[in-house]
Amino acid sequence: PSRRALLGWGGAGLALGAAAAGGTVAAVRSGGDAEPAADTGAAVPFHGAHQAGIATPVQDRLHFAAFDVTTKDRAELIALLKEWTRAAERMTAGRTVGEGAYGGPAEAPPDDTGEALGLRPSRLTLTFGVGPSLFAEDRFGLADRRPEALVDLPKFPGDNLDASRSGGDLCVQACADDPQVAVHAIRNLARIGMGRTAVRWSQLGFGKTSSTTPHSQTPRNMMGFKDGTRNISGTDEAALTKHVWAGATDGTGWMAGGSYLVARRIRMHIETWDRAPLQEQEDIFGRDKGEGAPVGKAKERDEPFLKAMLPTAHVRLAHPDSNGGARMLRRGYSFTDGTDGLGRLDAGLFFLAYQRDVRKGFIPVQRGLAASDALNEYIQHVGSAVFAVPPGVRDTDDWWGRALFA
Ligand code: HEM
Repeated sequence: PSRRALLGWGGAGLALGAAAAGGTVAAVRSGGDAEPAADTGAAVPFHGAHQAGIATPVQDRLHFAAFDVTTKDRAELIALLKEWTRAAERMTAGRTVGEGAYGGPAEAPPDDTGEALGLRPSRLTLTFGVGPSLFAEDRFGLADRRPEALVDLPKFPGDNLDASRSGGDLCVQACADDPQVAVHAIRNLARIGMGRTAVRWSQLGFGKTSSTTPHSQTPRNMMGFKDGTRNISGTDEAALTKHVWAGATDGTGWMAGGSYLVARRIRMHIETWDRAPLQEQEDIFGRDKGEGAPVGKAKERDEPFLKAMLPTAHVRLAHPDSNGGARMLRRGYSFTDGTDGLGRLDAGLFFLAYQRDVRKGFIPVQRGLAASDALNEYIQHVGSAVFAVPPGVRDTDDWWGRALFA
């Protein structure tokens, strides 16, 4: 039955994709007709106590960029962050970066690159963070502002990290239901930053691999398993407060209401995985492939009974009961960046997780996984970064990082 179920799901996915694409083409970016709240073309409010793009229901597409700051001048960096914030306000509302269609006179480059003209806001969220290297060597007079929770991640067994796909002084996570809207946003922020920042690495993602909306259908990752079943829900205020939002007493006041982001590019050995028997695949996760039910249970949402799983099962090792209650909000995406020159798909999971403190979230969980996870035979961590994601931008006078520089 599971094989049939899988085929059925694929069909539904295609139909949904077609509907979403149709909706994007049909209407224009500047607004117009009122739309129902769940519309994939709608705008997500940019301002608030927390940045959008964390607890926000996960959009279909991702463009994530890590930046190096190239200027040495604190005032120039602050000016950039203000410009970025104003541009982000406009783009998330479905508007061009500058006033008017292209902005400015014909003899100057346009204020907006233009490829999102005619497209709707597509639930674009732009989420900004700062990496440990921004605080290093007191480059910008920020040495004593570094949050204790913003630790450099330790090296885990099995890591094979590519420095050119790791780290970064700043990051922007762009999520949208239309890939062109997400790419447009990162492109324009990179353009505005020219001379002050440079893109260090970036990652496109599709097919969200986690859900923050428990009642919607759980998406599947590139291994074909439902991913995000037991994730923190974006509406579970108690869990968000306990596990995701940094508190006022967590050490650095400027981060209160913010969160800490771990990004890991995890390559999957797709061809090897595709030759693994179904039973082995299911044992590795501790869940069945069709329904997503934990071992010995019938339904996806049934409570996992960890002792029924192999001691090396991913779900058993990642479960809060195996990690002193550690939890995080996962928000990862699948990626496929063509082939690797050896005829193998360069594909996997771009893992993104938000937490109140990486020392109590990602690090203990990943220590356990790196040591024993049966999945390790089929995956390799090849990129890594950690960022402090400040609280939300309150209004049109506020800007990304204001409290940090205060
Ligand atoms: C659960 C896949 C890496 C943490 C799951 C589930 C799947 C999955 C299918 C079960 C459904 C669910 O509850 O979401 C993968 C794949 C990975 C990967 C394919 C790598 C390519 C990681 C990493 C971490 C992690 C690096 C964190 C260090 C978790 C957690 C759960 C989970 C916390 C929920 C456990 C529970 O409460 O039952 N993962 N995962 N995963 N994974 Fe992963």
